[in-house]
Amino acid sequence: MAESITIIDNRNGESIEIPLLNGGVSATEWSKLLPGVWFYDPGFMSTAACESAITYLDGDAGILRYRGYPIEQLAEQSTYLEVAYLLLYGELPTTEQYAAWKNEITSHTFIHENVRKRFLDGFHYDAHPMGMLVSAVAALSTFYLDAKEIFDPESRNKQVIRLIAKMPTLAAAAHRFSVGMPFVYPDNSLDFAENFLSMLWKVAEPRFEANPVLAHALDVLFILHADHEQNCSTTAMRVVGSSHSDPYSATAAAAAALYGPRHGGANEAVIRMLTDIASIENVPDFIATVKSGQGQRLQGFGHRVYKSYDPRAKIVKRIAYEVFEVTGKNPLLDIALELEEIALADEYFTSRHLYPNVDFYSGLIYQAMGFPLEMFTVLFSIPRTVGWLAHWQEMLDQDSKIARPRQLYIGSEPRDYVSITAR
Ligand code: ACO
Repeated sequence: MAESITIIDNRNGESIEIPLLNGGVSATEWSKLLPGVWFYDPGFMSTAACESAITYLDGDAGILRYRGYPIEQLAEQSTYLEVAYLLLYGELPTTEQYAAWKNEITSHTFIHENVRKRFLDGFHYDAHPMGMLVSAVAALSTFYLDAKEIFDPESRNKQVIRLIAKMPTLAAAAHRFSVGMPFVYPDNSLDFAENFLSMLWKVAEPRFEANPVLAHALDVLFILHADHEQNCSTTAMRVVGSSHSDPYSATAAAAAALYGPRHGGANEAVIRMLTDIASIENVPDFIATVKSGQGQRLQGFGHRVYKSYDPRAKIVKRIAYEVFEVTGKNPLLDIALELEEIALADEYFTSRHLYPNVDFYSGLIYQAMGFPLEMFTVLFSIPRTVGWLAHWQEMLDQDSKIARPRQLYIGSEPRDYVSITAR
């Protein structure tokens, strides 16, 4: 017999039996028994807002899979562009499909000159590159008017390719602007990560040769950040996309959600925290302040879903050592290791299931590679774009309803307007 839940309305004794499907119960069925009674769930802590076939995550067991493939295997054996294809189309590409896909992406890396010259150059000299990226992505919708054709498969796929291909170009342009360096055009003979590094660091050499260890590390970090099911920014993408706005506007909204320190801004916060701690001797005091609730949280620790070690954090920690072989050790590493060791042995953190998340070590890598702190969330946005788009496509194909939750009203009773002089 299929598993089910029965709920009884104690006000009138009526009951309803609802089948348990894929680990959930349909709220629509509950509502039949309880019209006008809403499920109060701030932060969507217990709400499944959709069905999805893209990413599987078991936070208690520390499992993450894209389309069924374990993240560890993808990080070890795949490439970011292959993973992007997998997330979007559901299967790993054949040799021919991969060649065509790579060709599509590399031939859409250029941005319209007006985006760079008029739009990006208009920012204030100290603009945060993430703010520039969010705005520039939104601005792209004004360059591709066909983007509104979201139910035309050809047009939709074109925008998906454009967004994935142009994200590194916009990101690099935002960085070059913020450090006063001239824009570097994409080099389509390079692969995805190498081209991005070229657009970032090229000076006067005819062709930028990225260090292969660093390019590979970046590619692995892109794989790890490509998707993470219904996180805050992906939810923003789905919510905005549910109104059928174009993918550039929806991606800009998702990127804006990623910008916050509770989400994609956390790796920047980790480096600021480690810099403030300054030395290993200060770690116990810092931990004590975190536990007292008087200071900041231990940045890069804790996760809404993972209640054990984030599987991505393990891979990032390993990659960090490979990168430090090339760049020299980030001096903040020892403080991070000490923090991790103390926190993992402390009842405050273990009882709350607080473990390092993906951001705990990724910032150390980015910093060692020479990225300024302001670029960290930008680096996250590049690969997460494919996750956002995969969810956006899935949502449109499911013919989902516009996202529109209910509320429990707690404001004042009806009252009459009082003129300003009489208040
Ligand atoms: N340091 C210290 N205490 C923490 C931390 C932390 N990093 N995270 C959670 N706690 C404590 C809370 O104070 C709370 O304690 P209490 O029950 O005594 O009040 C308890 O753990 C539960 O915390 P919540 O805020 O309810 O957990 P939630 O699931 O809402 O938050 C979040 C998850 C936002 C990620 C949180 O752990 C946090 O702020 N971490 C630091 C920021 C961070 O690293 N963000 C990156 C997340 S990964 C990503 O987006 C890529």
